[in-house]
Amino acid sequence: MPDTFGRAEFEKAAAYIRARSAHRPTVGVVLGSGLNPLAEEIAQADVIPYEEIPYFPAATVEGHVGRLLLGLLQGMPVLVMQGRVHYYEGYSMQQVTFPVRVMRTLGVHTLILTNAAGGLNPAFRAGDLMLITDHINLMGMTGLNPLRGPNDPALGPRFPDMSKVYDPGLRRLALRVAGELNIPLQQGVYIGLAGPTFETPADIRFLRLIGADAVGMSTVPEAIVARHGSMRVLGISGISNVAIAEADAAGEASHEEVLEAGRLLVPRLTALLRGILAELARQQP
Ligand code: HPA
Repeated sequence: MPDTFGRAEFEKAAAYIRARSAHRPTVGVVLGSGLNPLAEEIAQADVIPYEEIPYFPAATVEGHVGRLLLGLLQGMPVLVMQGRVHYYEGYSMQQVTFPVRVMRTLGVHTLILTNAAGGLNPAFRAGDLMLITDHINLMGMTGLNPLRGPNDPALGPRFPDMSKVYDPGLRRLALRVAGELNIPLQQGVYIGLAGPTFETPADIRFLRLIGADAVGMSTVPEAIVARHGSMRVLGISGISNVAIAEADAAGEASHEEVLEAGRLLVPRLTALLRGILAELARQQP
């Protein structure tokens, strides 16, 4: 499999998906670790395993199913990724973000990114939802930017603006819907690390110091590529564990803990996403 792609590959994958489903979604949803049960609620779903889509990266981590679903949620045609791939799995940044390019090629203009994240903000508890207001691209600052390499101006600009990655209108909508449904919704800055190691207590103190509220191993590359292609992005983290900032503290971070918290987070996240999609359906022309 090539580790960089261009329009020919995006078109080929998009054509394959178009041939497998009559749905023409304009909203995409990426479901993060342990959050994928939402996909079971999609009506009239066409289900395509990632392996069958040309060039699509296959999910390798427990808790990531690896299927694309096209169907209806709250009457809104959606394209849902049940599981994503991460850089730490050995994929290039272009492979990690390939599905976002394909969504854009398919006409998706609104992308909802979800993830499981560690809480850095001392006010956060496991089971909280956090609306992402902004991100820190720590992996990109050290060279792992998905836009590294030749730029195709037909896809987006060489130096894309990142001053409003998480669409202000979508954020207002999410806050309003959460308020109406009585779903507690924290807000904060997500910081993306490459993983797969969890952070040391010293890492955690550093991440807090530089202004991050939640830490994870995904989302940032996808949000960057989506913005490069002028998509509107909404990001929601499910706080699956609170980060440990003191050396020698009791307790350890584990993937099982992340998946277990996902089970608690799913009902809240599902209700919030349903509410948001119902509003987006109402705003359709
Ligand atoms: N750190 C990094 N990524 C994560 C965490 C964490 O504590 N929890 C879920 N994803």
